[in-house]
Amino acid sequence: MSKKLVFSGVQPTGNLHLGNYLGALKSFVSLQKKMDCLYCVVDLHAITTFQDPKELNSNILETTAAFLASGLDAKKSIIFNQSSVSGHAELAWILNCVCRVGWLNRMTQFKDKAGKDKEKASVGLYIYPNLMAADILLYKATHVPVGADQKQHLELSRDIAQKFNNDFKVDNFFPLPEPLIQKNISRIMSLRDGTKKMSKSEDSDYSRINLKDSADEIVKKIKKAKTDTDPITDNIKDYEKRPEALNLLSIYSELSEQEIQKTITEFAGKNFSFFKNQLSEKLVETISPIGSNIAKLLNDKKHLEDVLKKGTEKAYIIAEENLKKIREIVGFV
Ligand code: TYM
Repeated sequence: MSKKLVFSGVQPTGNLHLGNYLGALKSFVSLQKKMDCLYCVVDLHAITTFQDPKELNSNILETTAAFLASGLDAKKSIIFNQSSVSGHAELAWILNCVCRVGWLNRMTQFKDKAGKDKEKASVGLYIYPNLMAADILLYKATHVPVGADQKQHLELSRDIAQKFNNDFKVDNFFPLPEPLIQKNISRIMSLRDGTKKMSKSEDSDYSRINLKDSADEIVKKIKKAKTDTDPITDNIKDYEKRPEALNLLSIYSELSEQEIQKTITEFAGKNFSFFKNQLSEKLVETISPIGSNIAKLLNDKKHLEDVLKKGTEKAYIIAEENLKKIREIVGFV
């Protein structure tokens, strides 16, 4: 049995939002109390689409600040950036040779991100899931907290781990990593379209609540958030065709740490303008302190660089120990 170990990553592509917080960061924080955790700013993943070097540099520090501002503690968790531990790239190459083209061709995120003109997507974007498998397997992580959008990538990581173990006849060498996906709200949807996930790449800033939004911006965005004209009812089945309403009610429930049924019972008969005021209050209560903490932390770049440097040193030791064994298994001299 492998020792329990948590690994997860967030891309430093700017504008971390409520989806990142409720889908991932919040669980990162609660897991660090129970298990050994590594949390990684995945800058190698970010460059699969072109990043302006100056912006990338500042986004790496900003994502580190968001980790800390959300409650991660550099004394409890290993916080580092991916490019500073070269083993991620080395193992990714080995796994590129384990993973099958057919497996990658099934990845829906590549299809979404590459869009119509697949020929123009970078090769990095295509093999992105293999790098993600390498991130996890490099540390032999057993648990991976992610939002539901990453489920398919996690399944692929398990397939790759299994194939490596089988091909090289090293039973259980890589543990099969288990995704930890929030039960109640695994996918926060856009505030403009309840069928699309909230995302940093969507054009309209009104589609998402950013962790750095001011209280006024949060209130304004929730006021403008799409709903329908029906009042709130207390039958959960009524929401099957009301994705925007369901999304806002789910966000409220998650922030209040209660089941959605309790929320709809509480607000049954009320209209959305009343509910939105309550939701804004909850959001401001949770998100504003994170936003102001991010701003404060960004005033001390040296401290953030220091956190990454110390994290890197710890991550490197684990990575090198595992890589030594991996190189031997593969047959390198
Ligand atoms: P990224 O940077 O897109 O998102 C970081 C985390 O936030 C979650 N998330 C959401 N959860 C719920 N609702 C949403 N609307 C929403 N949007 C984003 C993501 O699921 C993710 O958990 N490929 C990963 C990063 C990665 C990684 C890894 C994760 C690289 N290597 C190894 C785990 C393990 C990604 O692009 O996440």
